Amino acid sequence: MSNRPEIRNGSAGVFKVRIRRSNPAVGEEPYWQMYEVPRDKVARLLDVLEYIHDHLDPTLACRRHYCRDLVCNVCFINYQNKPRMSCMTPLNETIAEDEIVLEPQSGYRVIRDLVVDFLDKID
Ligand code: FES
Repeated sequence: MSNRPEIRNGSAGVFKVRIRRSNPAVGEEPYWQMYEVPRDKVARLLDVLEYIHDHLDPTLACRRHYCRDLVCNVCFINYQNKPRMSCMTPLNETIAEDEIVLEPQSGYRVIRDLVVDFLDKID
């Protein structure tokens, strides 16, 4: 049995996705950017990132090479201020919030936007 949630067609509306972005390599301070993602196009948090990158904003830095299935551990992200594996975080009709807040995984050096260096832990 697959552990992947199904995309449910017919779900109305959009998720408003607020993402904390930055590019420390060029001295860019963190800022918030908003996106709107159709609810019926995403089943889990990882789908939100892929949808934004593929359809709305290819400049958003996020991991693009991953297992999608609980093996690689590179998909950790802060979701609603809590660490989550984006490949295992379902987004369906049970989610009450219309706004999704995403930040880079806390505790690690930010490379750019949502990408952190998991080998460089910070306090
Ligand atoms: S994508 Fe590999 S563990 Fe989530």
